[in-house]
Amino acid sequence: IDPKIKLTEEINRLKKEKNAVILSHFYVEGELQDIADYVGDSLGLAQAAAKTDADMIVFVGVHFMAETAKIINPGKKVILPDLKASCSLAESAPAEAFAEFKAKYPEHKVITYVNATAALKTMSDIVCTSANAKKIVESFPEDEKLIFAPDKNLGNYINSITGRNMVLWDGACMVHEQYSLEKIIELMDKYPEAEFIAHPECEKPVLLLAKHIGSTTSLLNYVKSSTAEKFIVATESGILHQMKKECPDKIFIPAPSVDSTCECNDCTYMKLNSLQKLYVCLKHEQPEVTLPTEVIEKARLPIQRMLDISK
Ligand code: 13P
Ligand code: SF4
Repeated sequence: IDPKIKLTEEINRLKKEKNAVILSHFYVEGELQDIADYVGDSLGLAQAAAKTDADMIVFVGVHFMAETAKIINPGKKVILPDLKASCSLAESAPAEAFAEFKAKYPEHKVITYVNATAALKTMSDIVCTSANAKKIVESFPEDEKLIFAPDKNLGNYINSITGRNMVLWDGACMVHEQYSLEKIIELMDKYPEAEFIAHPECEKPVLLLAKHIGSTTSLLNYVKSSTAEKFIVATESGILHQMKKECPDKIFIPAPSVDSTCECNDCTYMKLNSLQKLYVCLKHEQPEVTLPTEVIEKARLPIQRMLDISK
């Protein structure tokens, strides 16, 4: 018997036995998306975590996502196949440096993109994801002074579509900053019938070329509804698994990165997850994501506000 089939069977058996739910992000390997009870973007995953009645949440994604699930469910055990699955964007905003930055703007409210540590969320008025960032920003009066952290590319994009002038923290995602504008333009010339779509964590020149900009779920919905048959996709390549699954007759080309040895822009953190690690993690119920009670209590409010607005 194929070892992967055996692992999958064991994972499903353990999941039932322990009344666990598997939540996977679109950026993990296809087999880890296929085994999930729910696969989605950051908002969908937070919403799924908020409504699960399972005793244990297995988060197949990165650490900040599992932390968010824990903050929403302090009474449940939250486990992550690899604790080293961090996020360059979350790491670009260390809590102490951010506290100093925030102190310079005492009148400003803080909107924190979910790709941030729990510590940063404790310093925030509200959290957002790429799927609801516009809505969350527009929930504040037009003259409200705002800080947006940690992603400057998403912040810039939201400033441009809302006409706001939020103060931005200088952070970015290592994957979405790697796209080569030159190579994307060459590809668009080669395939004029293809539609170019991008995640808002990409830099402005890349976003200016895009026919559609949105979260991973939004990009997926777009390719499903578009009449085009070919797409150049500027986000982590894991989403292509879901796009090919939903639209088997369409063609998806990963947007090229500046590094010619890699054409796909994988998130090395997301790719730390594996079927083997998922099995071990479920079997031993670790590594577990834990947070001090005061952090959970402080970070819950801004996350809950986001969930309430996004219903
Ligand atoms: P989404 O919320 O669009 O899935 O994005 C998550 C992420 O990490 C983007 O890099
Ligand atoms: Fe973080 Fe970028 Fe990976 Fe998303 S793709 S988890 S923002 S490093």
